[in-house]
Amino acid sequence: MSNTWTPNSWQAFETRHMPAYPDAAALAGVETELKSYPPLVFAGEARDLKTQLADVAAGKAFLLQGGDCAESFAEFHPNTIRDTFRVLLQMAVVLTFAGKLPVVKVGRMAGQFAKPRSDDFETQGAMKLPSYRGDIINDIAFTPEGRIPNPERLKRAYMQAASTLNLLRAFSSGGYANLHQVHKWNLDFVGRSAWAEKYKAVADQIGEALDFMAACGISPDTVPQLKGTSFYTSHEALLLGYEEAMTRQDSLTGDWYDTSAHMLWIGDRTRFEGSAHVEFMRGIGNPLAMKVSGSLEPDALIRMIDVLNPANEPGRLTLIARFGADKVETGLPKLIRTVKKEGRSVVWSCDPMHGNTIKSPSGYKTRPFERVLAEVRSFFAIHRAEGTHAGGIHIEMTGQNVTECTGGAIAVTDATLADRYHTHCDPRLNASQSLELAFLVAEGLKAEAGLRVVA
Ligand code: PEP
Ligand code: CO
Repeated sequence: MSNTWTPNSWQAFETRHMPAYPDAAALAGVETELKSYPPLVFAGEARDLKTQLADVAAGKAFLLQGGDCAESFAEFHPNTIRDTFRVLLQMAVVLTFAGKLPVVKVGRMAGQFAKPRSDDFETQGAMKLPSYRGDIINDIAFTPEGRIPNPERLKRAYMQAASTLNLLRAFSSGGYANLHQVHKWNLDFVGRSAWAEKYKAVADQIGEALDFMAACGISPDTVPQLKGTSFYTSHEALLLGYEEAMTRQDSLTGDWYDTSAHMLWIGDRTRFEGSAHVEFMRGIGNPLAMKVSGSLEPDALIRMIDVLNPANEPGRLTLIARFGADKVETGLPKLIRTVKKEGRSVVWSCDPMHGNTIKSPSGYKTRPFERVLAEVRSFFAIHRAEGTHAGGIHIEMTGQNVTECTGGAIAVTDATLADRYHTHCDPRLNASQSLELAFLVAEGLKAEAGLRVVA
């Protein structure tokens, strides 16, 4: 890998999962236009997130990262954004309260549009067309015109990301995330779930603690932290032309930042030595993540860590393990041991979604919730055994009451998957399943803290 990095040096490297635009001039025109658009995030915010992630790497905080598999133009609505934000905050409340650790909140939101696909083509009946690659690239409608990569979509994705981010910023600092609101956050369907009682108990205890603090003179008026929260955005940096156009030099430090999101990650399919995606990511100052799975050997992982984080800066790199419930026990410990032995600082996060995708008997792509829970349980058990910090979870979820993953307290069955199966890509946890998962994670954090006290 050459040492000179520029925002476009990735172009000399091997690209995978990038669309072929039929009209290169139109694409170049849009990318030039995007370069003149305002940044969506600021370098200083990305640095703040890195500092918070350094706490996670040190075992002093927990990372909660979640949102859609693929955001879509069709599901773009303030209520959708609000509900996903609210469920992430509810999960964070459970984790902070029960797990007794600060929670770093990062949405797969405001830019999570481009998708790698296992097959380049999709066949329906006698017709074979290019696969859908996310709304930033082409149309989910199965028509020959719709599936042609269209550069105009980059601008629409930018605009949607900008207004999503604007609403998220308003929610996090405008009073909606005030801890006093936690009682009011009982979503209807969470209210019916077996986890509602448990959530209410946590919310009531927080309410009492806040009343006590208010009596002592500590209130949102005197302590601004109680009024709002920090919330960050992230997505897979797949469509490198878009990411390059959003990459700007920070006037304060002179460093380059990809201003399309606070945190960017490299997907499992574009994570290989010599990849254009790795080349692009090594040069930006944002906190980065990389998916890891059974196809990555420990020595290759160390080499890639050294490319992405040569200064071994804590908080710079998060490794998102996505093995599958049946593979995590054989695959993950050797990576953890090698990273620990070689003294590399990383955040270990668990993606219990992508290794647990199956086709249901009725033909839907789904994820059995018990396998999702099983992978998270194993992730915590492995870290306990290795003496390392189970630093975070990375999930595909929504605040909507969808029926996409089977199982959970209000059981979604194969027969009910069809009721509200809305995802544009992979199946997501619904609000109730997400909350159930948060309670399981809180148990894992408590067990880890117990070990720390004993040790
Ligand atoms: C994703 O996070 O949506 C994804 C495609 O995951 P992975 O790269 O791990 O397959
Ligand atoms: Co996905």
